[in-house]
Amino acid sequence: LTEIRVSPAIGVFDSGFGGLTVLAALIRKLPTAHYSFIGDTARLPYGSKSRRTIARYAAQSARFLVEEQGADYLVIACNTASALALDDIKEAVSVPVLGVIEPGAAAARAASSSGDVLVIATDATVQSHAYKAACAAHDLRAFEKACPLLVPLVEEGWTNSHVTDEVIRIYLNELATDAAAGGLNADALVLGCTHYPLLRPLIERAVPAGMRVIDSAESTADSAALLIGGRATIDAKRPPSQTKACATLFAQSIQLNCFATDSVEKFERLGSRFLGRPTGPVQLVDLGG
Ligand code: DGL
Repeated sequence: LTEIRVSPAIGVFDSGFGGLTVLAALIRKLPTAHYSFIGDTARLPYGSKSRRTIARYAAQSARFLVEEQGADYLVIACNTASALALDDIKEAVSVPVLGVIEPGAAAARAASSSGDVLVIATDATVQSHAYKAACAAHDLRAFEKACPLLVPLVEEGWTNSHVTDEVIRIYLNELATDAAAGGLNADALVLGCTHYPLLRPLIERAVPAGMRVIDSAESTADSAALLIGGRATIDAKRPPSQTKACATLFAQSIQLNCFATDSVEKFERLGSRFLGRPTGPVQLVDLGG
């Protein structure tokens, strides 16, 4: 099926399937866009790797989405890649690139009255202090904590297990103690990793009453809608370009092609939980070294 593109092509990238939570929010905001999603599942997790490696991997996926899938915009639906490699990705491609960190910090600003927020994320994201910097730009003090056990628990499907409940309580207790010792009076918690929204019910049960839990997926989708909406008038003046074949999925005619660098079967099975609907057939892609 080949067709004329009349709506933007949005490439969405994550190290795995967690970014499908961001894609779900994008689809709600921009339902007529054409989406290509790639999960670099063969090289997951990014959260324990070095900046150099993350930047190299992320740039390869970004080029795949732009050069082979014809994306007009890129959304980096991975906190680790957004925190460590946003500039490298922007250098690798010539289309507008949006990460999840800045929208997350903006959402934290809107939610916090005290001006102090907590952030949980992967090791690499925390070590980069990208959230701390983005929050500081919004006049917020942020206290960050790495929670490396949470991604494997979600990948294992243990999103409703007493073990995961206990792990979350331990992490959040440590975080609350350290933040209080640092003089913070936090009233919001940012989920700084794309896997964590699946643990939201457990996290909400574990935080003190009154603490707001922030998921950057919605604010990222808002920023994307603003960015793309703002450029739509410019794009409308360009002649429409031919798209690649694009699967029309579901009754709602969502245009989505999913790609993974490892087991497509696992992606299809787990991905639907993150996306909140079937992913459709997933294609295997080899990005090289
Ligand atoms: N997608 C990553 C993030 O949002 C989590 C998984 C990983 O470590 O690669 O930080």
